[in-house]
Amino acid sequence: MYKYVGDISVLAHYIIKEFLENKLVAIDGTLGNGYDTDFLSEHFNKVYAFDIQKSACENYIMKEKSNVSVINDSHHLLNEYVKEEVNCIIYNLGFLPGGDKNITTEHNTSLESIKKGLKLLSSGGIIAISIYTGHNEGKKEETCILEYLQRLPKSKYGVMVHSYLNRTNNPPKLVIVEKK
Ligand SMILES: C[S@@+](CC[C@H](N)C(=O)[O-])C[C@H]1O[C@@H](n2cnc3c(N)ncnc32)[C@H](O)[C@@H]1O
Repeated sequence: MYKYVGDISVLAHYIIKEFLENKLVAIDGTLGNGYDTDFLSEHFNKVYAFDIQKSACENYIMKEKSNVSVINDSHHLLNEYVKEEVNCIIYNLGFLPGGDKNITTEHNTSLESIKKGLKLLSSGGIIAISIYTGHNEGKKEETCILEYLQRLPKSKYGVMVHSYLNRTNNPPKLVIVEKK
């Protein structure tokens, strides 16, 4: 098993842990099985975790993490729930592994959420977006999210894409956005 090039979620967590100075408030845009929320809960004072699937939200609420607010709504409405500056946002797009493949993030709402997230992001803040292009909606997300992010002014944002060169079958991509 590879340590660096194995799992983009592990890489996203490492980047956030090492390079983000202020770890006060974070958003998990896609709660799912809660692995990213667990990571954020461990490192941040306050975490907002969104998922449209009631079961994902109910499962996480059972963990009774005092610094996590679970929100059973779409992440494109995040500005209705989060009224403070955030230092970090994680999006793990696509469908829940082992779950219903028809319940997936969608390019329009993913992009809208990212745009709203950029407004809430603090100076020095990081957004980590994992994109899975092995399904149709994932391909659309890749196209529209990368098109939008590549046009962000470089004086305000740094954007980096981590992609696999020698993997087959539509490997995932990790996109990191850092606000100056
Ligand atoms: C790849 S999974 C997330 C994995 C998760 N981060 C983890 O650690 O297990 C994607 C999740 O996004 C959720 N989702 C889909 N559309 C959404 C939306 N518009 N807003 C919030 N969550 C959404 C799905 O229900 C699914 O649970």
